[in-house]
Amino acid sequence: MIRLLLLLFAGYGVVMSAIFARRGARPTAASPSDRGARAPIRKILIIGATGGTGRELVKQGLAQGYEVAAFVRDPAKLQTTHPQLQIVRGDVLDDAAVEAAVRGQDAVLSSLGHRRLFVPSRTQSEGTRNVIRAMETHGVRRFICETALGLGSSAGKLGLFATFFFLPVVLPIYFWDKSRQEKLVAESRLDWVLVRPGVLTNEAPRGTYCHGHDVGSYISTGRVSRADVADFMLRQLNEDTYLHAAPGIVW
Ligand SMILES: NC(=O)c1ccc[n+]([C@@H]2O[C@H](COP(=O)([O-])OP(=O)(O)OC[C@H]3O[C@@H](n4cnc5c(N)ncnc54)[C@H](OP(=O)(O)O)[C@@H]3O)[C@@H](O)[C@H]2O)c1
Repeated sequence: MIRLLLLLFAGYGVVMSAIFARRGARPTAASPSDRGARAPIRKILIIGATGGTGRELVKQGLAQGYEVAAFVRDPAKLQTTHPQLQIVRGDVLDDAAVEAAVRGQDAVLSSLGHRRLFVPSRTQSEGTRNVIRAMETHGVRRFICETALGLGSSAGKLGLFATFFFLPVVLPIYFWDKSRQEKLVAESRLDWVLVRPGVLTNEAPRGTYCHGHDVGSYISTGRVSRADVADFMLRQLNEDTYLHAAPGIVW
């Protein structure tokens, strides 16, 4: 009986992984930019700026000299002031607010997420749809979007525990929407990069990490700090190595 239950459970994990593989983005390789020389990126909009990765994006973006616009629902949560920082209040599901925030920017970075794991939600996909629409409308090309290992071409790469327990039992609803988010980004006409971290930690940045298409393991669960993910995301603003690709990132 227990063996049968284990077998059913394992089958469920495999089926869910196959679903996340099919629904997420499956880019095969980076495609070169078709635009030749592009204007330098100075002004960046950060979606999810009050979150763990978002705060790091704000902090590191300012330290690197960017003019940063932080898109937040509650400005009191950010608690950062800086002459180069503009706080834009809004909800990502409000397309007028998103459009106003995107207008005039050179690039957008998104670390959008939420903690309502067991409630059906389209926040990530519909919010990202609004961002993409605004960017296409205003000719803002570069979009760096944080998703997760375990989606699309990285299905199974978050390790055995995640593949057979965490994703199918705890995160199926969340990942369902996240895979939709990836697909929308990959189908857009933007200069996009999907950044897929392993499990996130709040540890200090190490400054060195593994990134690329082969990152992640089918056995063990890779981790990486939000600070290092932010560093990698900011690098994608001015590099084309992963243009139209979905690199994983772990320590
Ligand atoms: N946790 C992990 O181990 C892990 C692993 C791999 C990938 N990821 C992914 O990495 C990303 C970043 O994760 P994180 O833990 O650093 O972020 P987080 O702390 O969960 O922050 C999410 C951000 O999204 C914002 N947000 C949510 N709904 C919004 C809405 N309707 N309008 C505007 N903003 C909204 C939140 O704003 P409020 O502050 O107002 O709520 C917050 O700023 C997420 O996409 C997550 O799925 C996470």
